[in-house]
Amino acid sequence: MQNRITTLFNISYPIIQAGMVWASGWRLASAVSNAGGLGVIGAGSMYPEVLREHILKCKQATDKPFAVNVPMLYPDIDKHMDIIVELGVKIVFTSAGNPKTWTKFLKDKGITVVHVVSSVKFALKAEEAGVDAIVAEGFEAGGHNGRDETTTLTLIPAVKEKINIPIIAAGGIATGKSMLAAMVLGADGVQVGSRFVASDEASSHPDFKQKVVEAGEGATKLTLKELAPVRMLKNKFFHDIQDAYAKGATVEDLKTLLGRARAKRGMFEGDMEEGELEIGQVAAIIHDIRPAATIVQDMITEFREAQKEVAKF
Ligand SMILES: Cc1cc2nc3c(=O)[nH]c(=O)nc-3n(C[C@H](O)[C@H](O)[C@H](O)COP(=O)(O)O)c2cc1C
Repeated sequence: MQNRITTLFNISYPIIQAGMVWASGWRLASAVSNAGGLGVIGAGSMYPEVLREHILKCKQATDKPFAVNVPMLYPDIDKHMDIIVELGVKIVFTSAGNPKTWTKFLKDKGITVVHVVSSVKFALKAEEAGVDAIVAEGFEAGGHNGRDETTTLTLIPAVKEKINIPIIAAGGIATGKSMLAAMVLGADGVQVGSRFVASDEASSHPDFKQKVVEAGEGATKLTLKELAPVRMLKNKFFHDIQDAYAKGATVEDLKTLLGRARAKRGMFEGDMEEGELEIGQVAAIIHDIRPAATIVQDMITEFREAQKEVAKF
């Protein structure tokens, strides 16, 4: 398979494993890269020295390209960027911030830059900032998301109308069929998050992986729009947030309720009641925990079969 995304990243298949807090360390990233996709280390839950260790281990585990995702909310972002440059990481995905802030710095060092957006407006800003590609992430995606509630099916063609650089579709993609659909709509590749949470190599807590497998239709919702909108499983913590809304909670009340380290508590430490469990709507069609390489291979096989099926029409 060859297109603008496989060429940009020098990979075999246009499948990008999403950078995800508490899920995507070196084990997952290297497994996906070795399988022909692009593995991404999620720096958002790592102290700088932890990130260093993950990059070094990833380099030992694969000789294929891999990337690092840096959410710009992170307070120690300068240190992250210095380590990325020092260790010669070739591809960086930035998210949750202004693409102008780091793109030039990274591009000047010869690094390929991809920025995550949730609307046409931000896609245009990212293109203007000089990024090499964008991830366009729809409303159904797990984790932090845009406020406009634009679904992937609407977002991809809308972005395609206005943008010339390669587009990676994200949100609700876990199968080869949805990958084909996204590419028909104008995407050059797909970024897959939730499906890789339920993989052997994800660093997510086993109880969280099991919850993802058990999640059915309607099990997730986007909430906390006043702070940073995030899609999560409807567990006790989620219902506590809804109770707070019902009582007219202020932004300060919500911040206090969220507290610190909720995401770590849920997704990494396995507190299924009090923790924040970020996952996408697509969890409803994830029924097992598989090796990451199998996820990549199954997607490609299904993509090719779906292409043939559609060609019959
Ligand atoms: C557990 C989890 C953690 C995430 N953490 C991050 C993150 O640190 N940085 C980021 O840019 N996106 C993050 N996301 C969003 C993903 O990168 C990706 O765009 C999204 O999961 C795609 O939608 P899907 O879950 O339907 O596949 C996270 C998603 C999940 C499910």
